[in-house]
Amino acid sequence: MKTEQHNNNKRLLSSLLRTAKPVAYFIFLLLTYALGYLSAPSARSSQPPQQQAPPFASSTPLNAVFSSSDFDSTSNSVIRVTVNSTELDSFRVTTRCADPISPELVRRTLVDRLFNGTSPFSNFPPPHAAPLLRRTKKIKGWGSNGAVFENLIRRVKPHVIVEVGTFLGASAIHMAELTQRLGLSTQILCIDDFRGWAGFIDRFSKIPMVNGDVLLYFQFLMNAVNFNKTGSILPVPFSSGSALIKLCEWGVYADLVEIDAGHDFFSAWSDITRGYQILRPGGIIFGHDYFTAADNRGVRRAVDLFAKVNGLKIKIDGQHWVLHST
Ligand SMILES: C[S@@+](CC[C@H](N)C(=O)[O-])C[C@H]1O[C@@H](n2cnc3c(N)ncnc32)[C@H](O)[C@@H]1O
Repeated sequence: MKTEQHNNNKRLLSSLLRTAKPVAYFIFLLLTYALGYLSAPSARSSQPPQQQAPPFASSTPLNAVFSSSDFDSTSNSVIRVTVNSTELDSFRVTTRCADPISPELVRRTLVDRLFNGTSPFSNFPPPHAAPLLRRTKKIKGWGSNGAVFENLIRRVKPHVIVEVGTFLGASAIHMAELTQRLGLSTQILCIDDFRGWAGFIDRFSKIPMVNGDVLLYFQFLMNAVNFNKTGSILPVPFSSGSALIKLCEWGVYADLVEIDAGHDFFSAWSDITRGYQILRPGGIIFGHDYFTAADNRGVRRAVDLFAKVNGLKIKIDGQHWVLHST
């Protein structure tokens, strides 16, 4: 009797063990799954997965800063861009500009850093270019003699002017004449890659070309020589982006920055953003094409957006836009 009871208990125990094993395994699986689910990032929110935000996104919805008229309402797709006017970090173009060097050191510093210590005017013109260059008193420019130049130079009395977009030097030479007349010893730094733009030769066939290399730079130097402005004008013959970044890194600041290079939105936006960075406190940044055909391509939109994001007021002087730094 006792043996039978014992055998029954044994059978019960082994059948219990047989059932308990898969149950324990199942509970273990459940626990693992639950832990994995809880630690996954998507588990923290019940929102559906979103597209990756653009690099300048921050916490405030764009429509809190810009009105709906800032966007093309004809497009069906909704782009949720966020930007906060107080968080300019995302618009940053370099970490931090160096401390300013003294304006008296600007020319020497740039001649050393850009030209290995030799002025680009020394031994100019080189023999291969000399016969091709014109000595003219009439230089093609765009709004290069506008009243804005005199208005701002009289007001700011600049030590350093940075011009972004020089071409043959019409506006730079005009500014040099104004500063000279006012008795200022101003350095005018002319940032231009001196390539013009693709197709520009259609309108400027008189600018000589050697093996596909248009001699815009040499003709600009010749114009500066011809107007006796080689002491106050210095070319910075590089793309606007790389040149402005370097001025910022080398602590070269300006009292006036003129923007007149690429006229599409992105070029204007980046030139204005980088130009503003090297403005001395109280300095002024300004540019052409707020009221010309080029504003359609984006200059005016870039200026408007920049002013809005930075809380600046746009002033108008002829065809030029003007922004005072804060
Ligand atoms: C409209 S012209 C400048 C005219 C000049 N401010 C004047 O009034 O006499 C534009 C100039 O910008 C230069 N440019 C355009 N994009 C540039 C860039 N990304 N970097 C450097 N120069 C650029 C062209 O080579 C051209 O000479």
